[in-house]
Amino acid sequence: MHEKIFDMRSRRLELGLPQREVALRARVRETQLRKWERGLELPDSESAKRLGKVLKISPSKLLSAQETYAEFATPGEGYTTAEAGKGEVTRRKSAPPSGTKRVLDVFCGAGGLSFGFERSEGFITTCGIDLLPDRIDTFMANHHYATGIAGDLRAYSLHEIHKLTGDVDVVVGGPPCQGFSSIRPFRNLTEGDPRNSLVEHYVLVINHLRPEWFVFENVVGILTHENGSRLCAVLEGFRSAGYSVEWRVVNAALYGVAQHRERVVIVGNRMGIPFSWPKPSHRAEHKSMAGSRPEVIRTEGPLFCTELPDAVTLMEAIDDLPPIPAGGEAAGYIGPTRTDYQRRLRAGSELLTLHKATNHSAKMLEIIRHSGSNISALPPGMVKSGFSSCYSRLNPDKPSTTLTVNFVHPASNRCIHPYQDRALTPREGARIQSFPDSYQFHGTTAQVVKQIGNAVPPLLGQRIAEAIISSEEKMKNGRSKKASQAWQPLVESTF
Ligand SMILES: C[S@@+](CC[C@H](N)C(=O)[O-])C[C@H]1O[C@@H](n2cnc3c(N)ncnc32)[C@H](O)[C@@H]1O
Repeated sequence: MHEKIFDMRSRRLELGLPQREVALRARVRETQLRKWERGLELPDSESAKRLGKVLKISPSKLLSAQETYAEFATPGEGYTTAEAGKGEVTRRKSAPPSGTKRVLDVFCGAGGLSFGFERSEGFITTCGIDLLPDRIDTFMANHHYATGIAGDLRAYSLHEIHKLTGDVDVVVGGPPCQGFSSIRPFRNLTEGDPRNSLVEHYVLVINHLRPEWFVFENVVGILTHENGSRLCAVLEGFRSAGYSVEWRVVNAALYGVAQHRERVVIVGNRMGIPFSWPKPSHRAEHKSMAGSRPEVIRTEGPLFCTELPDAVTLMEAIDDLPPIPAGGEAAGYIGPTRTDYQRRLRAGSELLTLHKATNHSAKMLEIIRHSGSNISALPPGMVKSGFSSCYSRLNPDKPSTTLTVNFVHPASNRCIHPYQDRALTPREGARIQSFPDSYQFHGTTAQVVKQIGNAVPPLLGQRIAEAIISSEEKMKNGRSKKASQAWQPLVESTF
């Protein structure tokens, strides 16, 4: 493993200085120092100079180490809660069956994306890598043929990664968004360069492992990052590695998930096969975060896709779960399922787990009782600040709005139950994300909520996997023409 990158907090601890003293001596606010240490913001050059003096490190080194550190930090997780793995490897329980495509899930989290692949015939997950051990515990509990690696992807050489993963046919995964802060041309990338961002490392992994297919998933924000130049750089990276690539903005609600969740998905292969995007199975009116771009897959419009059923609503996903108050818990189902969605997700599950509501304070319960479709439903002065969708109830008759990693806290993006005075439970979140009730989540409640909120809905993963198989079949049956020239091996010395 490469040398650990040094950050401001480690340096302060090494010198044995409390935060307060550093803040005082560097003439910065303690709260600000905390933000810098957590990698949430970067110090300005004047503050960096003063901090450098106190921490006995040159300001430029301090800034570049902090920049790198910020990319390591996990989205939605503070420094204090994110316990990075140290490269622990948990070997697979059983040998993967032959005749299936082997999937490597990079940044696997709970494993929603690769679990979706496994639900489509023809794929088996053989390895998952994630920075956080609790993610790997969950991933391993649901992927029986996979080896799990808990560690920083960039801490491994490409050779080490290949030794651990073995040969794979498909690589899936979405690097966290911090990875976009620097994307250099592919020809300038070299293995082991500490400046490599997570995206760059992902491209290097693809280039080294040479899977037949890869799937790259990310937030819609990548489209506007630096006027779109980041997305172009990512696409160019994959193309330079010899892959034909296509991308779309995909809303999970159009594929049967009870949630509007838009993501940018890039699919690439090295055989020059045109990828046929999965056809929507459901219809939904939704204002795309990507605007009117032609790459957005849509179903709205009066005469468009009218034959499709409406998207699955929130209540169609969760109303078979027992009602509970704030702070309450239910460990058993009380009635039968009402919808197909519920039937599919409850299948095979006897015991109800994770249906435990956050205990709210009296003040929060008062806010919840007044809450409506957005923050302006609250009486003036009841809360001091917040975005329009904070402290808001979900619409029972529409797919849920996008779940975040904070969906058990009413102050965050719309996550209050439509009829019950509490935020969603982790089980309701898992339903909204299309995880079956039998999916086993490991870790503390806070970690499990993050695993659920961060996941790619398995049902969306399944539709993408099926589209890969059908694109290959179309090609075999001569119904598709090659998308681009065959892969040309790159000069090995570039890496
Ligand atoms: C958006 S989540 C992945 C969700 C996953 N695809 C799913 O469907 O469940 C991103 C994951 O990247 C992991 N991660 C962040 N930085 C990493 C790094 N440097 N190396 C490996 N994993 C990392 C985080 O711990 C997090 O679980």
